[in-house]
Amino acid sequence: MLIDIIAGARPNFIKIAPIIEAIKLQSAAGKDMQYRLVHTGQHYDKKMSGDFFDQLNIPAPDYNLEAGSGTQAEQTGKIMIGYEKLLLENPCDLCIVVGDVTSTMACSIAAKKVNNIKVAHVEGGIRSGDWTMPEEINRIVTDSISDYFFTTSAVANNNLIRSGVPDDRIFFVGNTMIDTLYKHMPRLIKPPIWDAAKLEKGNYIIMTLHRPANVDNGIKLKELITEIVQSSANLPVIFPVHPRTAKMLDTLGISDRNLYVIDPLGYLEFNYLVKNAKAVITDSGGITEEATVMGVPCMTLRDSTERPETCTIGTNELLGTDPANIAPAFRKLFSGNWKKGNIPELWDGNTALRIVDKIAIIYDLS
Ligand code: UD1
Ligand code: UDP
Repeated sequence: MLIDIIAGARPNFIKIAPIIEAIKLQSAAGKDMQYRLVHTGQHYDKKMSGDFFDQLNIPAPDYNLEAGSGTQAEQTGKIMIGYEKLLLENPCDLCIVVGDVTSTMACSIAAKKVNNIKVAHVEGGIRSGDWTMPEEINRIVTDSISDYFFTTSAVANNNLIRSGVPDDRIFFVGNTMIDTLYKHMPRLIKPPIWDAAKLEKGNYIIMTLHRPANVDNGIKLKELITEIVQSSANLPVIFPVHPRTAKMLDTLGISDRNLYVIDPLGYLEFNYLVKNAKAVITDSGGITEEATVMGVPCMTLRDSTERPETCTIGTNELLGTDPANIAPAFRKLFSGNWKKGNIPELWDGNTALRIVDKIAIIYDLS
């Protein structure tokens, strides 16, 4: 069988790496399983794309749809047109999409509409309940047309069952982003900012912000950053800046002697900083999962999360987006009362193997 693997944006690359490795193992064991890697081109800067292929040993994409940036509809349209063209010329048997980015939704729609190609959604079923997030629309649309669902939690299973998905199409397998984390944990790399900012284990904060609700409004972004820097007791705040945020930050001229604004980091460098940080402050989804697994306190500047287990089991806490909530959270951190957390069920490094084993069973591959 031929499986298309879709990846378009930074978190996708991290999630697909172990799936590709697991497919290669099946094929080396004699199973009739081949893949094509389709990069939609949603992210294209070296620091948002190419560096992840190099560091995580992801093979070069077989196709790049070169969709690039645009409005939601422009980007969705470009990805759909590019992927449909590829499928019309050369169809696959199964399309695997991961996560909740626009590439995920666009390719799942294109695949279903070209001769009802089967779609498997890895990380299916999660919901924030916040319909103002483009990702929530992507999740709902993708899940409403997917055939198979590989889930990260029992909560995701329940969401799918409540929306009418038959039980036998849902497979609780764990988290492929955590497969990648476990695999690369022994080879994390100290980035140059470590020495430049005189960092030591547990004496700095690592921060990322890229949600439109936090960064597309300059006043809001400035308030958040100012409050974080003022609340962090003079600890260095390391801020690798996503390109969406960089566009806004350039217009604001924020500076502070404890604030280190740097380019997006490679995966190995970024997670080195997370692992050794006093705490993470973020609005990312994936980073809350990684912080949970590494046992690092995590403050999330959002009102909701589609990953509730990072809060109920892990080290994550939702602060909301009101800057007034930041100082009390730092006080709790510095008092030593932050929860320790545990690792969610099946986030054990073997998720991609479970996914690919299941596919081999569904397709009766001998
Ligand atoms: C996207 C995802 C988001 C995910 C994030 C991961 C959607 C709707 N959003 O958000 O869920 O958390 O990726 O990082 O899919 N840009 C560059 N270079 C790049 C990529 C983007 O400069 O390589 C800039 C462009 O100005 C672009 C903006 O960033 O317009 C936003 O990029 P886009 O892919 O639309 O959304 P993200 O904010 O990255
Ligand atoms: N990440 C990285 N370098 C950075 C910031 C994040 O390698 O400078 C990694 C991080 O470890 C995680 C993923 O990018 O694996 C999360 O992506 P992002 O926050 O962009 O998207 P989200 O998870 O919110 O969709």
